[in-house]
Amino acid sequence: MDSYQLVITGICEPTAEIADQVLDLIEDVMPDEVLDRTTLITLNQPLVVKSSDSEAQLTALYDSISRAGGKVQIIRSRSTDQFPEEAPPRRYPPVVEESTSTKVKTLEELQTLVARHRSAGRKIVLCHGVFDLVHLGHVRHINAARKHGDILIITITADQHVKRGPGRPVFNHNLRAETLSNLEAVDYVAIIDAPTAMASIEAIQPDVYVKGQDYKDKKKDLTGKIFDEQEAVERYGGKVVFTDEITFSSSQLINLYLDSYPPQTMEYLKEISSRYSIERIAEMLDALKQMRILVIGDAIIDQYHYCTTLGKSSKENIVANKYLSEENFAGGSLAVANHVAQLSDNVTLLTVLGENDSFRDFIQAKLNSKIKAEFVPRPGCVTTVKRRYIAGDTNKKLFEVCFLEDTPLPRREEQLVGNFLEQYLKDYDLVLAADFGHGMITRRLMGMLSRPTNRLALNVQSNSANRGFNLVTKYARGDFICIDEAEIRLATHSRFGDIPKLARQICHRLHARQIIVTQGSEGSLSYVQGQGFSKTPALGFQKVDLVGAGDAFYALTSPCFAAGYPQDLIGLIGNAVGSLAIQIVCNREPVNKTDLLKFLTRLLKF
Ligand SMILES: Nc1ncnc2c1ncn2[C@@H]1O[C@H](COP(=O)(O)OP(=O)(O)OP(=O)(O)O)[C@@H](O)[C@H]1O
Ligand SMILES: [Mg+2]
Repeated sequence: MDSYQLVITGICEPTAEIADQVLDLIEDVMPDEVLDRTTLITLNQPLVVKSSDSEAQLTALYDSISRAGGKVQIIRSRSTDQFPEEAPPRRYPPVVEESTSTKVKTLEELQTLVARHRSAGRKIVLCHGVFDLVHLGHVRHINAARKHGDILIITITADQHVKRGPGRPVFNHNLRAETLSNLEAVDYVAIIDAPTAMASIEAIQPDVYVKGQDYKDKKKDLTGKIFDEQEAVERYGGKVVFTDEITFSSSQLINLYLDSYPPQTMEYLKEISSRYSIERIAEMLDALKQMRILVIGDAIIDQYHYCTTLGKSSKENIVANKYLSEENFAGGSLAVANHVAQLSDNVTLLTVLGENDSFRDFIQAKLNSKIKAEFVPRPGCVTTVKRRYIAGDTNKKLFEVCFLEDTPLPRREEQLVGNFLEQYLKDYDLVLAADFGHGMITRRLMGMLSRPTNRLALNVQSNSANRGFNLVTKYARGDFICIDEAEIRLATHSRFGDIPKLARQICHRLHARQIIVTQGSEGSLSYVQGQGFSKTPALGFQKVDLVGAGDAFYALTSPCFAAGYPQDLIGLIGNAVGSLAIQIVCNREPVNKTDLLKFLTRLLKF
């Protein structure tokens, strides 16, 4: 028997004729949906109906809908054995091979449907996940879940909230929803605009919430969300059950079969995954919580003024832009402190703010509440602002204007910073000097920071404002140095020299134990005295904004260095951080520890 699905959209003024025809077609197919003439007449959304009737009936319906100003798509039935060997001759448009499904609903629609099913005494089962690359493990999990009730709903995380690192999800949420909706056991699918399952649980209040067996040991859930989910499900009188089906991993399958990285990177990942497990890395990162860390350095307010292009100025040879909006970010040492606070609960920030236009309230609001901040006001100055004019929403910079006072800190303020260091430096396990060369860290303060009793991690930046005057070689020593390729070339006056040679040279000169040279899309090169070199490739290629990637790399690798972690692991963590950082607009937010662990989980799945 022939079987079709119709997707009817945009009926402006459905006639009684259409209502009759549709009802004839769907009558015995969708008894649950209680479709009467009224619902049909107000219908302005896709509706799937199946026809077990004749070609003539379909053609008549198509004609009636077209006359009423509506549209209709005729879609091949899911079950090929129901489909005739030879398609019948037809006057309606060709069969569409795509599988659009009305099982995909919004959360609001689901709420209505759930209420209806509940009142009919049906038990609601919910599963939630990303479901990127659906595999047999998912299919069995879903089939097992369905057995716990009468209606199975699957909610999936929308693309913008999937935190599995660059390039993921491989399949966008519409495709993921479509795949799931084609599974027999699934009644409804919804795409959830939220990072966790909580929104689904709150809205659906399932009788049964089903998780895979990998969540049975709740402590293994990196996000810790399973505890909140269980609490919410039980609050609404439901229960959480775990299926006991074979587990495959989408990430593992994608890593193994979908060539998500170039061959050398794949080799690198396979090799390093044999040396470190994600559980071990998570433990190592957790062990940094108690580390007492001081971040000292120039505060910067990064400012983006978003513009749209108007056209060439009539009198000048310039392109005029129209201002759209602006956004401020806590940058420089403020961003470094926020990144470090993802790892340590004991972070102090020591920085200088302008007495005028200090941005103090903004900074307080943007700093992680765990950070103890010491602000030294600099009289007669503004806090450094780097204003970039940005083309539309592309994050492409057009022009930059800096508001800064970059002469060395006056004697009195230098004394205030010096007093703090004199009194408290001994209390810290690690000091990060985030030196952007804007005057805060004077020669005298550098001398204090470089004392052998401190463990010092240095990031000495070259930027347009300091034009190569701010070199790491200003410091007498440092234990860990993290700079980019341009910075090491300037510091060694070597435009074309071999980076490994230059890295070793700087490492020796500053009596450092480790140096890392970050190289943008080339990843990073590390050198440890007495151990040699370790190269790590870049791990992400989707760039939103490159600003601040090096700062994030430096901030999150420094505590790992201080804890004595191996250089290959530091390289992996640093480049994973860099990959996540280039997806964040400027310093809008720090690289989040949970996101980092999720990304590393996926990278190490082989
Ligand atoms: N274009 C890119 N493609 C892939 N990864 C990148 C790219 N740019 C940066 N990264 C990642 O970020 C890390 C640090 O970047 P980079 O070497 O550009 O630092 P930087 O010049 O100090 O940046 P900034 O000073 O703006 O913070 C790299 O090691 C790499 O992991
Ligand atoms: Mg940098």
